[in-house]
Amino acid sequence: MLDIFPILHTDRLDLVEIKQQHLGDIFKLFGDNRVTQFYNIVTLSNESEAQRFIDWFQNRFVEKLGIRWGISLKGSDSIIGTIGFNNFTKRHRANIGYDLQTNFWNRGIITEALKTVINFGFNELDINRIEAEVMQGNYASEKLLIKVGFKNEGILREWMYWNDKHYDMIMYSLLKADVKLT
Ligand SMILES: CC(C)(COP(=O)(O)OP(=O)(O)OC[C@H]1O[C@@H](n2cnc3c(N)ncnc32)[C@H](O)[C@@H]1OP(=O)(O)O)[C@@H](O)C(=O)NCCC(=O)NCCS
Repeated sequence: MLDIFPILHTDRLDLVEIKQQHLGDIFKLFGDNRVTQFYNIVTLSNESEAQRFIDWFQNRFVEKLGIRWGISLKGSDSIIGTIGFNNFTKRHRANIGYDLQTNFWNRGIITEALKTVINFGFNELDINRIEAEVMQGNYASEKLLIKVGFKNEGILREWMYWNDKHYDMIMYSLLKADVKLT
């Protein structure tokens, strides 16, 4: 399983391996305050910081601890976002994350990518439960999780610690059994 990076396809998108050639794209993505505002990361200010992200995504895959795809519009070499499992354990749990350059928001792109990645998680990685923790106020993220079938499980009180503050997070989950039922 996962000896070769699995490229996935949707109607409009290719989900590809994040490589060195994408350094500028990753900087554009995580160098935007609107993208990082609900994350526990500092907005990137140069490409060498983006390099650390590429190294992290690649290492997680090599170590079989996580998998992050770059999102490309079909036929394009650049990536406009990322999506994937920050961690996963076979037959058990995975945490999902996603982000998109702001000029592509609200076109259903992450909804489309998410459905394919969820299928891959349940069917190929044999994950049973996919989780997403969403910061309060991130309405777009909540909306799209609900659209693809995630259930709101309530508030994780002061679950995230970032920049010397504690943040409540909203826990969403989707079970393999939920998808079988629909
Ligand atoms: C969250 C994010 C990935 C969504 O990507 P996207 O491709 O624009 O999402 P989609 O278009 O597939 O779906 C978003 C839905 O939220 C809705 N939406 C967007 N902004 C909203 C808002 N402020 N309030 C309520 N709904 C909102 C959209 O209308 C859409 O619903 P619809 O299809 O019923 O119209 C994108 O906003 C992003 O990159 N945010 C920053 C990173 C981030 O927060 N990641 C998630 C961390 S948990």
